[in-house]
Amino acid sequence: MPTIASVILAAGQGTRLKSKLPKVLHPLVGQPMAQYAIDAARGATGQAPVLVVGHGAEQVRTTLGDQATYVTQAEQLGTGHAVQQAAPLLTGQSDYVLVTYGDMPLLREATLRTLVEKQLAHSGPLTMLTVISPRYRDFGRIVRDAQGNVCAIVEAAQATPEEFALTEVNPGAYCFQATWLWDALQRIPLSPKGEYYLTDVIGLAVAAGLSVASVTTSDENEAIGVNNRVQLAQTEAVLRQRLNEHWMLEGVTLIDPATTYIEASVRIGRDTVLAPNTHLQGQTVIGEGCVIGPNTIVRDTVIGNDCHIECSVVEGAVLAEEVEVGPFAHLRKGARLERGVHMGNFGEIKNSTLGPGTKMGHFSYIGDATIGAEVNIGAGTITCNYDGVKKHKTVIEDGVFVGSDSMLVAPITLGAGARTGAGSVVTKDVPADALAVGVPARVIRKTK
Ligand code: UD1
Ligand code: CA
Repeated sequence: MPTIASVILAAGQGTRLKSKLPKVLHPLVGQPMAQYAIDAARGATGQAPVLVVGHGAEQVRTTLGDQATYVTQAEQLGTGHAVQQAAPLLTGQSDYVLVTYGDMPLLREATLRTLVEKQLAHSGPLTMLTVISPRYRDFGRIVRDAQGNVCAIVEAAQATPEEFALTEVNPGAYCFQATWLWDALQRIPLSPKGEYYLTDVIGLAVAAGLSVASVTTSDENEAIGVNNRVQLAQTEAVLRQRLNEHWMLEGVTLIDPATTYIEASVRIGRDTVLAPNTHLQGQTVIGEGCVIGPNTIVRDTVIGNDCHIECSVVEGAVLAEEVEVGPFAHLRKGARLERGVHMGNFGEIKNSTLGPGTKMGHFSYIGDATIGAEVNIGAGTITCNYDGVKKHKTVIEDGVFVGSDSMLVAPITLGAGARTGAGSVVTKDVPADALAVGVPARVIRKTK
């Protein structure tokens, strides 16, 4: 089996993004831009790529970690010079080298595979990707001879009027025969702009009488290079559409794909319905048969089967099966709702477990609490968990009935089957099966 190394160019500043953040770290559908290039290159070659970094190198390394090896291009002297920085690491290490640019997140793994396969079946020194589109006016033009063979890439700025009019252009993905590449890079002439252009190796191949193969992508979106924030938004829209189509084909209903925002990391079960303006983010997993939205954000949350969440914000939570949330609920980090929990409008739950079948219908705050099964939390109940210095725990055992507008001043325990009266301020533990009322609440009788 031939070995294929890959190099991703990501040293440029991305000046036109006008940003403190290095270009390749700008997020797209929840992932840094370079993640797409890394995944595609690794998928097509079976190896972790080499990333050429320069501007913001440290930040790029820290963010992307060990998914790539890194070489630094201290000065950005052009794309040819950038690839050359990987020579000490890669010379003699592979039969072929795939080269892509870190700012082309729409380039597919399958397209890179086709490129590699074409090169493997070909005796010439390289195969390059091309795209035919009048849309990319600043891309290098592909010049072909009378037989249709590629004979040069001419950068737009250097093109003659005839060359400038050509619509077949260079998106920037190439597969090279390795020994030829490492040698050719040393022979690139300095361009009129004072840079070493990778594209000039094509001229070197042609001058040596070697044939240059090409693969033309039929999806012109694949060629988008993100240079400014208009292209960033266009790219985001295409990536989002691809993900939405993936989930629809997997059995998820999107009532309005144009207003459904699913990040790449999210997983969704079959027969789940996503209503308009639903945002699914981060490490979120959603079961089967759920209805999520409209107007809902779910972030870093695991949701079981047959749950229903309407007009709510859910983050860092775990929901078992058949849980109902909303409208207008806020679940925060550490919220855990067991099977059949009902959480109605205007509630907030943080770092708390609600046991199976527990109901919390209206206007409540539950924080740092462990609540058992079949508990009824009356409207307006608040766990007073914070004394200004420390957070304290509330324990509510199975079958408790908390009266409306109860203040539960933690640390506190309500024993199984206990009840509190409406408006009580509970400062002391309530024994099992007892009724406590008043301000501060006192036990007035046993209920059993
Ligand atoms: C390049 C191609 C052009 C092609 C276009 C497609 C060359 C000479 N030209 O032009 O034919 O149509 O891409 O988008 O290759 N980079 C470095 N170090 C450098 C210079 C660039 O790492 O010294 C990286 C950039 O970060 C970027 C990529 O290489 O990810 C492409 O560089 P860029 O300056 O955007 O090249 P273009 O002028 O767009
Ligand atoms: Ca570019």
